[in-house]
Amino acid sequence: MDEAIEAAELEKLPENRPHAVFPLGLPVLLVRRGAEVYALENRCAHMGCPLSGGTLDGNTLTCPCHDWRFDIRDGKFLDAPEIGLKVYHAEIRGGKVFVRI
Ligand code: FES
Repeated sequence: MDEAIEAAELEKLPENRPHAVFPLGLPVLLVRRGAEVYALENRCAHMGCPLSGGTLDGNTLTCPCHDWRFDIRDGKFLDAPEIGLKVYHAEIRGGKVFVRI
């Protein structure tokens, strides 16, 4: 069963910038959009580069290593949607971000 693990304080998350966290030691990427937070696996589906070093343009996150592009809303690789990143459910409670792992 999924468990909600505290991953970050909402006020410390930069707006619209990929941010790496490690709930339970797992590499997770958070992207804050106002009161909403997206949570994805912070390992590229290509060769595992940390996506927290990537660039964000709208909902598109580009990997810093070889420019694979992913949609932060569902983790899908834009050039082949059958490939994708693991996406975690994120929720905000009491000013903290919890991720269901
Ligand atoms: S590791 Fe991300 S595009 Fe190659």
